Amino acid sequence: MIGVLVSGFGSNLQALIDSGLPIVAVGSNRNDAYALTRARAAAIPTATFSLDCHDNREERDLVMATWLEQQGVELVVLAGYRHLLTRPFVARFPGRIVNVHPSLLPSFPGAHPIEDALAAGVETTGVTVHLVDEGVDTGPILVQEPVPVEPRETLEARLHAVEHRLLPETVAGLLPAGRAA
Ligand code: GRF
Repeated sequence: MIGVLVSGFGSNLQALIDSGLPIVAVGSNRNDAYALTRARAAAIPTATFSLDCHDNREERDLVMATWLEQQGVELVVLAGYRHLLTRPFVARFPGRIVNVHPSLLPSFPGAHPIEDALAAGVETTGVTVHLVDEGVDTGPILVQEPVPVEPRETLEARLHAVEHRLLPETVAGLLPAGRAA
């Protein structure tokens, strides 16, 4: 059973939903994330874990981890989730948190990978799906796919198209046999 964490538009969440993966919970750090609307439209339980409602990040993450476990989540997917997860959360799902990032990690980690790749003048960037640890876009790489930078007008759309294929494929491969769709 999959839990997805989101912060924004939720196009990766939509790709996961459309793939028919067993998503049982969608959590967010922001109550205005459009991704939550997508989850509700798919009748998936949602919850918001705003930092404002907790003393610190660790406490927020523990409450979030407990909610995910209560929904039966075994595998957590970060789909545009823009907060760093703290040690207590990562420890609750060891080796069972997956992230998608629009660069060929370890190149261009962080919040602006597409802009950073353009600024660096590389010819090829790409998409990485990796396991999550406490670092910023670190953790063992599961799969990568290169994407040419040119034509740069369409780079963002081409990267997202790869994300929307690669993330569901990789997540499906991590589920116990017979659980994918
Ligand atoms: C994606 O590019 C994802 O790789 C990155 O943030 C973006 C989220 O987009 N971490 P969306 O919310 O899934 O549309």
